[in-house]
Amino acid sequence: MFIVVGVTGGIAAYKSVHLVRLLVTAGHDVHVIPTQDALRFVGLTTWEAISRHPVTTSVHDDVAEVRHVALGRRAELVIVAPATANSLAKMAAGLADDLLGTTLLATSAPVVVAPAMHSEMWAHPATQANIATLRDRGVHIVGPADGPLTGGDSGPGRMAEPEHIVAAALAVVPERDDLTGLRVAVSTGGTREPIDPVRFLGNRSSGRQGAAVALAAADRGAAVTLVAAHVDDRVLDAASRHPRVDIVRVSDVAQLQRAMADAAAEADVVIMAAAVSDFRVGTVSDEKLHKADRDGLVLELVETPDIVAGLAAARRPGQTIVAFAAETADTDEALRRRALDKRARKGVDLLVANRVGWHEGFGAADNAVLVVSARGVIAEASGAKREVADAILDAMLAAQADAER
Ligand SMILES: Cc1cc2nc3c(=O)[nH]c(=O)nc-3n(C[C@H](O)[C@H](O)[C@H](O)COP(=O)(O)O)c2cc1C
Repeated sequence: MFIVVGVTGGIAAYKSVHLVRLLVTAGHDVHVIPTQDALRFVGLTTWEAISRHPVTTSVHDDVAEVRHVALGRRAELVIVAPATANSLAKMAAGLADDLLGTTLLATSAPVVVAPAMHSEMWAHPATQANIATLRDRGVHIVGPADGPLTGGDSGPGRMAEPEHIVAAALAVVPERDDLTGLRVAVSTGGTREPIDPVRFLGNRSSGRQGAAVALAAADRGAAVTLVAAHVDDRVLDAASRHPRVDIVRVSDVAQLQRAMADAAAEADVVIMAAAVSDFRVGTVSDEKLHKADRDGLVLELVETPDIVAGLAAARRPGQTIVAFAAETADTDEALRRRALDKRARKGVDLLVANRVGWHEGFGAADNAVLVVSARGVIAEASGAKREVADAILDAMLAAQADAER
C-alpha cells in the first residue's frame, strides 16, 4: 500500500522511526513527510534511509513532480505520528504552508493521527476543539495514551505505541467492498416544523449516527443518497467530501418525506435514521406570534405522516427497509419489546433501537443499539457511531442473505 507518514515536531518523533520500519518491513511503500520542526528531533538522513525514498519538508523541492499534490493523490493511507498540538491546529484550520499540510488537503485517503504532547496541551479546549473538528471530518484519532511524558511527569498525552498505531491505521483502510453496486438512501438529522416564521418544533438529534451510516456504506462501496435534515455543526463534513455520497438538505417532515420517496425509488436499501417529528402545528402563523396579541397560547398539533410506514408500504421488490427508533425505555427488556412491536407495526425489515434520555443518545460520540428483524434481536452493537454503523450494515447484509435463502 502507498502510505504517507507525516512526522511533526514532538519528542515522540524518534518512535516514528520504528513505526515507519514496521510499515516498510510489512511490504508497504512508505513516504515520510516531516515538518521543519520534526527535523530538529530526527534528521532527514534517518527518514530517507528507513523509508528508502527521498524526503523533503517543502513544497518548493521537486516542483516539476508537483509533490504537494502527487503524494496526497497517490496515498492510500496517511498517518500523522506524532501529531503536535500545533499541527493538529493547522490540520483543523486546513493550513497548507508546508508539504505535509498540502498533502493532507490533497488526499482523499483515510487519515490517522496519533497526537502526542504534554497533558496540559492535550486538555486545552483549543486542542480538544481541534480534535473534535478532525473527528467530525472523519479523521481517525489514535491515543494519546496515559503514561510517562518527557520531563519526568506522567498523564494523558503520550503517543500511542507504534504497533498500536500501525494496527489501528491498517484497520481503517477500507478492505471491504461488500456494498459495491448497492444504492443506499439514508436520512439523518432532526426535522423542524414551523410554528411561525421564526419558531419551530424540533428535536435534539445531532445527525451523527445517520451520517456515520452513510459514510460507512459509501466506504464499503455503496452509492449513497444522504437526506439530511438539521444536524450539528460539521456532522456532514466527511460525507460531503466522499465521492459516493450525494447530500440532499431538507428541513421539515414534508420535505423529508418527498426527498426520501425520490431517493427510495432508486434505492436497494433505505435507512431512516432521521428524527422525524410526530406532530406539526395545525395552523402555521404567517406572522411572528407576539405575547401582547394574546393571553397565553395553545398550539393545536396534528400528526405528521408516518414516513417509514409509507416507504415500507411502497417498497420495491427486493428493497430492504431499515428504520431507527429512539426510545426512552427504562430497561433493556422494555427497549427490546418496544423494538419488536415497532418493527412489526411499521412493516420494516429491520429496526434499530437505541435508548435516549436527558443524558444519553443524542449528540454523543458513542451509541448502543439493538437491531431486530422478524426473527427477533439479530445484532447488538455499542461503541463509536461509526462502529455501530458498520454493525448495522452487517446486520442488514445478513438479513438480505437470509431473505434470499
Ligand atoms: C524538546 C521539545 C519537545 C517537544 N515536544 C512536543 C510534543 O510532544 N508535542 C507538541 O505538541 N509539541 C512539542 N514541542 C513543541 C513543538 O515542537 C512546537 O510547537 C513546534 O512549533 C511544532 O511544529 P510542527 O507542528 O510544525 O512540527 C516540543 C518542543 C521541544 C523543544
